[in-house]
Amino acid sequence: MAAPNDPATGVIAAFRTWFDDRTPGLMPAYRKHMTEYFAPKNFNVWYYFGSLALLVLVNQIVTGIFLTMHYKPSAAEAFSSIEYIMRDVEWGWLIRYMHSTGASLFFIVVYLHMFRGLMYGSYQKPRELVWILGMLIYLVLMAEAFLGYVLPWGQMSFWGAKVIISLFGAIPVIGNGLTEWIMGDFLPGDATVNRFFALHVIALPLVLLLLVVLHLGALHEVGSNNPDGVDIKKGPKGNRWSAKAPLDSIPFHPYYTVKDLVGVGFLLILAAFIIFFTPEMGGWFLEHDNFIEANPLVTPEHIKPVWYYTPYYAMLRVVPDKLGGVLVMFGAIAILFAVPWLDRAKVKSYRYRGMLSKVLLGLFAISFIWLGKIGAGPGTDPVETIVGRFLTFYYFAFFIAMPLWTKIDSTKPVPERVTTHD
Ligand code: HEM
Repeated sequence: MAAPNDPATGVIAAFRTWFDDRTPGLMPAYRKHMTEYFAPKNFNVWYYFGSLALLVLVNQIVTGIFLTMHYKPSAAEAFSSIEYIMRDVEWGWLIRYMHSTGASLFFIVVYLHMFRGLMYGSYQKPRELVWILGMLIYLVLMAEAFLGYVLPWGQMSFWGAKVIISLFGAIPVIGNGLTEWIMGDFLPGDATVNRFFALHVIALPLVLLLLVVLHLGALHEVGSNNPDGVDIKKGPKGNRWSAKAPLDSIPFHPYYTVKDLVGVGFLLILAAFIIFFTPEMGGWFLEHDNFIEANPLVTPEHIKPVWYYTPYYAMLRVVPDKLGGVLVMFGAIAILFAVPWLDRAKVKSYRYRGMLSKVLLGLFAISFIWLGKIGAGPGTDPVETIVGRFLTFYYFAFFIAMPLWTKIDSTKPVPERVTTHD
């Protein structure tokens, strides 16, 4: 049945009724997640990044489909098929650069999205599951980007794959067998390209899409947090759209869909600038060595992963022991899953936390970026290694001591309503 206040008349209304009667869950789902999803009215720029992540995800899927039409998943043909896409396929260069730039933009957007979560305590009760699902997305995204990077079969594809897959060799007893099993050979080769292609174009994207649906489903079940960390559901009720909705809320559609378009505009301008003027981004988005075909007999001077992995790569390298390095690297990601239970602060947003929390979070962001810089370097400077160890220590200390410093830090009283109201 069409909604009672449906403005459509005549043929359109009749078609809508016909359609609604045959898709019973669709309109209620649209209302639940769009027009009747009442979000806090004080979202700021930090709240753009969720919808931007969705936009980049769609870009990756659409451009990926077109790349798949011309890419050849074999060690013999992969590199030349990319050259073919870049030179001979109509608009192939644009599709490829949209995909490669999209990969880096995805991580920029997701890192900012995660940092927003840390700033506003968005992982705290009742949004623990939203955070956990987000972390799973992050893990799958890293795997997805790694697999994709191997596909062009350039020097960095080959050597990056070799270094990263060989890390599994550090696992006692099963390590060597596992490495061989992943590669399907003793070195990355034809079998590796084949299986990585299958995983990159269908298996992981499906998992990613499912996780994103669950992520949003979990969020909409409990409702969004906001920059003040105020629970609007506990505040006064009734706004101009609904007597039951929180007073400080507005419907997601059309208000935030329109607002998010501003973010979309900025992202598209940035993306266009990169794609048309500096698609390699000085070697940060597409590494120079990857324009040379994979050669198992020639090792590149510096083997380093793309920028979004370099903080973890730095941690791996500054630990002298291989197994220790691998454990530290995976531990650094694993510990993020525990954040909802490590934070014991009574208030969510950093706006109402004390100076200690603000300084520690600021230092955490600096350490992560600095580690990223160290991981992108050659790793030969002993001073840098010491600094890297210190920063790795800080990274872990930040989380391990979180139950303590979030408890002892002072807090300011949280207002009853969000701060931006008449
Ligand atoms: C493909 C990647 C992702 C997509 C498409 C995505 C999408 C979204 C969207 C659309 C929202 C609602 C709008 C917003 O609050 O910005 C959201 C909220 C949220 N996301 Fe994600 N997300 C992704 C990855 C992540 C990751 C990696 C994490 C953290 C580990 C995360 C944690 C959260 C949290 C905690 C919220 C609730 C924020 C709040 O209410 O304050 N997300 N996400």
